[in-house]
Amino acid sequence: MSVHQSEDQRKVTTHRLLEMKMRGEKISMLTSYDYTIATLVDGAGCDVILVGDSASNVVCGNATTLPITIDEMIFLAKGVARAAKRALVVVDMPFGTVSGNPRMSLEYAIRVMKETGADSLKIEGGVEIIEDIKKIISAGIPVMGHLGLMPQSINKYGTYTVRAKEDAEAEKLISDAKLLEEAGCFALVLEKIPAFLAEKVAKTLRIPVIGIGAGSAVDGQVLVFHDMTGITQGFSPRFLRRYANIGETITNAVKAYVSDVKSVSFPNKEEQY
Ligand code: KIV
Repeated sequence: MSVHQSEDQRKVTTHRLLEMKMRGEKISMLTSYDYTIATLVDGAGCDVILVGDSASNVVCGNATTLPITIDEMIFLAKGVARAAKRALVVVDMPFGTVSGNPRMSLEYAIRVMKETGADSLKIEGGVEIIEDIKKIISAGIPVMGHLGLMPQSINKYGTYTVRAKEDAEAEKLISDAKLLEEAGCFALVLEKIPAFLAEKVAKTLRIPVIGIGAGSAVDGQVLVFHDMTGITQGFSPRFLRRYANIGETITNAVKAYVSDVKSVSFPNKEEQY
């Protein structure tokens, strides 16, 4: 085990994430969308597993995160929650489930918590949905906020470029971040914003701030598992570090299998009954 990896095998809780921030221990977070991968991610010591609505792109092949449904998210999250022995499991509330109707949002939130066995939810947005977030938290459901680039708003932005470069958007982001903390969110994801702004938010808030494309001066990092392991191809934003090239490994394995089947070198005598 690496010296930087936590040797504490107790289940990660929202409270323990807060303690990690207080003692300066960085939080690791990755996405998973199924039991098998979540078992590996959990077993390797990742602190938080996100059942991201990026599943809409990565698992379902959609161009955006908008089409994935709550039923699809629940199906994926069930497998992940079964796998996670140590990691805190966070499930993304998909597009349209939290949009300014607190009672409806709470119903969706309760469904996800009841049916998946996950530990918490992640919700994109600030002041516009703050009452929804308060309602969900008041029912005892932990919520992680998400500001900066919010992929569910892609049709509003028209581009996946860096957010909050202008003063007005940066000020709104800081104000939203404070509101989310006051509302009781246990952590906040900041996606694709200038590093100095993310640092300012992380220093201002008591709750952990987890970045993706937000620099190193935050309390933790999150990446999409399929991107950082090289399963997905052709997506290479500046913030993405690839730790493996599993896409190539899989392609080579499949090519070798196809060749062996065609040449009848698989199965051999030892591989049959
Ligand atoms: O859906 C997702 O994977 C996310 C991360 C990029 C933070 O929201």
